Amino acid sequence: MKGLREKILSAVVIVSVVIFSSTVLAKELTKPTVTNAHWYPSYHIAAPSGWINDPNGFSYFNGEYHFFYQHYPYDVKWGPMHWGHVVSKDLIHWERLPIAIAPDKIYDASGGCFSGSALERDGKLYLMYTGHVDLPVPTKDGINRIETQNIAVSDDGINFTKLAANPVLYVPTDRGDISGNDFRDPKIWFHGGKYYAVVGSRNKAETIGQVLMFESPDLENWSFKSIVARSEGNQGDMWECPNFAEVDGRDVLILSPMNIKAEGKKFLNLQQSGYMLGDLNYDMGIFTHGEFEMLDCGFDFYAPQVMQAPDGRCILIGWLDMWGTPMPEQADGWAGQMTVPRELHIKDGKIYSTPVKELELLRGNKTFYENLSLTKATKLDGVRGDVGELLTTIDLTQSKNFSIELRSSGKEKTILSYDKATGIVKLNRDKSGEALTGEREVKLSPADEMTLQIFIDRSSLEIFINDGEAVFSTRLYPKANSKDIIFIPTQGALHLKQVTFYNLHAGIPQP
Ligand code: FRU
Repeated sequence: MKGLREKILSAVVIVSVVIFSSTVLAKELTKPTVTNAHWYPSYHIAAPSGWINDPNGFSYFNGEYHFFYQHYPYDVKWGPMHWGHVVSKDLIHWERLPIAIAPDKIYDASGGCFSGSALERDGKLYLMYTGHVDLPVPTKDGINRIETQNIAVSDDGINFTKLAANPVLYVPTDRGDISGNDFRDPKIWFHGGKYYAVVGSRNKAETIGQVLMFESPDLENWSFKSIVARSEGNQGDMWECPNFAEVDGRDVLILSPMNIKAEGKKFLNLQQSGYMLGDLNYDMGIFTHGEFEMLDCGFDFYAPQVMQAPDGRCILIGWLDMWGTPMPEQADGWAGQMTVPRELHIKDGKIYSTPVKELELLRGNKTFYENLSLTKATKLDGVRGDVGELLTTIDLTQSKNFSIELRSSGKEKTILSYDKATGIVKLNRDKSGEALTGEREVKLSPADEMTLQIFIDRSSLEIFINDGEAVFSTRLYPKANSKDIIFIPTQGALHLKQVTFYNLHAGIPQP
């Protein structure tokens, strides 16, 4: 069976490579230049130019955090995927390294090196990624692409060599109700003396999302274990980018299901990313779990990847964008950025995400106020900017409804509002600037105060509410001088126990 698949793959890939070389490569490939950096992030990971999507290979190797990303360096839109690469000693100040892997083998040349993960073993950094090949003609069984898992290894964490034995994994369609089309985004980890991988999948009818589990003694030889989890009800028809993680002693499956239907004000984005808490039985290869919950209630958050840091923390970075959404920065020669690194914890049976403590290293000039009772719309001296961090604690025993305008010029504004009667917080970007509109909301549990920690960058906001009870992430494209923050009591007075604003230093090399 494997022999036949390999033959089909070789034949198809040769045809595809010839087509690819004669069309794409015939045109001279040049990298776009960033012509205007007004929306380019100051401290979020972004490509030097060109396109990025999913986080990949988030890992720790030789005393440094490595972070890779889906990257097309030759255009501002998606193209055959490469892995871009940055490295950091502190998760915050990132240095650029050369592109780690490019599509150049029969199993990845035509479609690209799709998402995957990384792990250190015996002093080497292993990447496992999906080689994607589109078939020029579908087979009679309706197969129109070949996705395989492949390994690239590095001694120095900079130069990677793809294994001669690749692909190390073919889709095991003969081991259950497993579609031959979608088999991607491996996440590898080590547990109890063995290596494990989970890979995103769906059933043959393409109506149910699922995750396949594999095991290996050495990261190179793999065997199929099980369909470890599947969607039930409205949980999507393809599960992309699965991650297994251990958070505060619990097993967590983090996943990006496609085509979940909106439920009221929930699941409004084109695709969702979230988690299921449960128990992973490694012997049986079965994950018993609770409901699918969202990790972020904003507009732009997808394909998050986690890593277990050496100190035991489970740290997550997501793509701070969403498929199908306009990206006006494309006109400036680049597209896409990542979230800040977030630490995951479990509280009251839910995942809380908070910005990692290392972000404090970015803090510069500080402005501080306490015990403010505002009865009209108020700007506070020193509390404004297009790159900064706002922290505030609101006394809910004395405040009623209020809103906070961010990146405001009066005309342009992104509005966070709170309704006391319902406990609902809304984020509205109808007037945020170019291209984007819409509103997202979340209901908070009743409390005497609300804390907000808001990361402002040139074209993004990440709003952490009540130490991670809820998070809103959004891109936005305001004018560079829309920098005000306005506190607005909309009913009664607004009591702020404290307001702190930090200007933040740069964390990523600027174009
Ligand atoms: C998710 C995704 C992955 C795939 C990658 C391709 O955003 O579709 O499933 O590996 O993007 O760039």
